[in-house]
Amino acid sequence: MPKRIAILTGGGDCPGLNPAIRGVVLKAHKLGYECVGIQEGWKGMINASAKPIGPDDVRALVGKGGTVLGTSRTNPYKKDGGVPAVLETFKKLNLHALVAMGGEDTLGVANKLYKEHKVNVVGVPKTMDNDLDATDYTFGFDTAATLAMEAAERLADTGRSHRRIMVLEVMGRHAGWVALYTAIGAGADYLCLPERPVDVEDMCAKLKTAHAARNVALVVASEAVDIPGEKKEEQLDEFGHMILKDRGVAERLTKLIETRTGIETRSAVIGHMQRGGPPTLFDRILGTRVGVKAADLIHEGKFGHMTALKGDAVVAVSLEAATAKLKTVTPGWLKFSDDLL
Ligand code: F6P
Repeated sequence: MPKRIAILTGGGDCPGLNPAIRGVVLKAHKLGYECVGIQEGWKGMINASAKPIGPDDVRALVGKGGTVLGTSRTNPYKKDGGVPAVLETFKKLNLHALVAMGGEDTLGVANKLYKEHKVNVVGVPKTMDNDLDATDYTFGFDTAATLAMEAAERLADTGRSHRRIMVLEVMGRHAGWVALYTAIGAGADYLCLPERPVDVEDMCAKLKTAHAARNVALVVASEAVDIPGEKKEEQLDEFGHMILKDRGVAERLTKLIETRTGIETRSAVIGHMQRGGPPTLFDRILGTRVGVKAADLIHEGKFGHMTALKGDAVVAVSLEAATAKLKTVTPGWLKFSDDLL
């Protein structure tokens, strides 16, 4: 009987998950393992919800967005009997190892299960936010930022025709990577990210100058940015993170800018569109590489590790290091963008 590997995808989906699942399954098969797909993240490990997944199921997945396994933001540590149920599922499904694909939340659970219960787990980093510390990039980010960049350019086109200021709100949670890359890639005039408070005077002055010169000014703002003015009541998810939808960042910035500059201003929020659609080439390759490496790590018995991109190499880093702190935009990157914008 071949040893069995389970795969789960947890947290927000992102393009690159399907190529990563494909990478694990194809390499695991080559190494003589069979695979099962856990349905909807840790929820599926609590409920023992799994389906066999083999090479024929995954071959055509490299260009597909989303995750064929489904996902959830379930945290077994926040559910009564959640952790014992996960351990029970491990035995019941006769699992040799589990590949957990996720961001800091999903991998934080994987790390605790490894440390506290010696579960044979290997992590694969994914998040459009690109905020995992121990890897240079996470798949999902390139696709999200590329889509956001194209949206920003479209906004600028219509804004120029109408002589308006345009504001684009992007996702990224508490890290401003998506906003930063979008702003640089689209040649924006102002960038608002969660790593520093919005300087309203500076923003309005720069927007007026840009608008006078080019008939349009473009702002890229992250969903988690702090805007002076009224505070909204924040809701938390099972991992204790603020639920950022409905904060109305784009709308609030638009009103503020229009009032202060006297220039007609419009905004757009692209939200979950950043998480759907086919992965870019970069995300297809990165997803595939980290997936294949996860199967290798299992074969080597290197549990409690995550696959990570370091320079041009895909290596193993400890789950502990990967989940210790969030990777936010560095002062060096802020200076780089300030020199351009
Ligand atoms: O963490 C990925 C992410 O897309 C964040 O950028 C965003 O704040 C959040 O997920 C949205 O979550 P949900 O899909 O649960 O609304």
